[in-house]
Amino acid sequence: MFETLEAQPADALLGLIKLFAEDPRPSKLDLGVGVYKDEAGRTPIFAAVKEAERRLLEEQESKSYLGPSGDVRFLELLGDMVFGDVWKAQAGRFASIQTPGGSGALRIGAELLREVVPNRRIWVGLPTWPNHVPIFSAAGLEVRTHPFFDVASQAVQFDAMMAALQTAEKGDAVLLHGCCHNPTGADLSPEQWQAVADVLEARGLLPFVDLAYHGLGDGLEADLHGVRLLAGRLGGLLTAVSCSKNFGLYRDRIGALYVMTGNSDTAAITASHLACHARTAYSMPPDHGAAVVRLILSDAKLARQWRTELDEVQARIGAIRAGLAAHGQAGPVDLTAVGQQKGMFSTLPLSREQVQTLRAERAVYMADSGRINVAGLRLGDIDAFVEALRSL
Ligand code: LMR
Repeated sequence: MFETLEAQPADALLGLIKLFAEDPRPSKLDLGVGVYKDEAGRTPIFAAVKEAERRLLEEQESKSYLGPSGDVRFLELLGDMVFGDVWKAQAGRFASIQTPGGSGALRIGAELLREVVPNRRIWVGLPTWPNHVPIFSAAGLEVRTHPFFDVASQAVQFDAMMAALQTAEKGDAVLLHGCCHNPTGADLSPEQWQAVADVLEARGLLPFVDLAYHGLGDGLEADLHGVRLLAGRLGGLLTAVSCSKNFGLYRDRIGALYVMTGNSDTAAITASHLACHARTAYSMPPDHGAAVVRLILSDAKLARQWRTELDEVQARIGAIRAGLAAHGQAGPVDLTAVGQQKGMFSTLPLSREQVQTLRAERAVYMADSGRINVAGLRLGDIDAFVEALRSL
């Protein structure tokens, strides 16, 4: 029976982890998957996380089931952090569920969209994270795309995006990157967020915000500007939140989905649908990382420590971006725009062949699209990376 299966290609991003690990060259540079590294090349565990884990080990009394919605206190604290004043005033309008990572939140959200969006359609700006379209398609949504960013000119194609949204039908869903756009680092300005909110409101569209890198761009509050603006203005909103990057909890798979509805009755019914989707997919989410985040966010001292560490990560990414941008033109790539972009990723105007050449001849690993994980580069490696680009 299984003989009918055809081999599937390895996920392009995750495949890079294996390729990099197998490369014996000591000078190799890993700019592939979005994982933060410090100047020693390690992905450290936040000290606030270590302390929360120590407490958890001492205090946890049971490992009994949590239920499909997960850790309710975690959801309250994270919701408060993400939505700020809107949450404080209207928490009852939100249905929420703890999920296995931000990807789990995207999938559960997509399952809900299939139930509520009239044409089962979602609009996605390109380029985007390579897993967005497969997740939405796997959940049975029709994906319509529009231009978002032109790699050659390193510019957001805002007019094209707005023109596409003007053609969307009432009730269509729209994917938006909350901040630190993956894969381009090109974020909307506050004025552009305002204009997007206007068109969503005027046309009755339903935004689905993917929030995976808040705190890594302009700082936590600034990075949450867009999602808070939408939550304050619109009647409905989905938000997938990941704790992988800003708590460094990648392998613990911690995320959450928040669905802002019109009132608390609708929120309760919506929550029951989220729980059903979780139950049939994985039953219940893993507890550990959510308990860690709960302990951090519920303890003022730990929360302060985490914020300080997050700010250090953000400052380091900013320094690497500034260091790259200072080189200006490097072979075929003008690095100036990298200094303006936010978060972990930028996409360089490189052909697939040039990316392969860098991998084969210089042991520089990046996605075939030309996406680089800026946060994977050591300050001490900037010159070697620029030199590799110049060799093209
Ligand atoms: C990335 O884009 O590199 C990260 O979000 C990791 C992943 O799951 O693809």
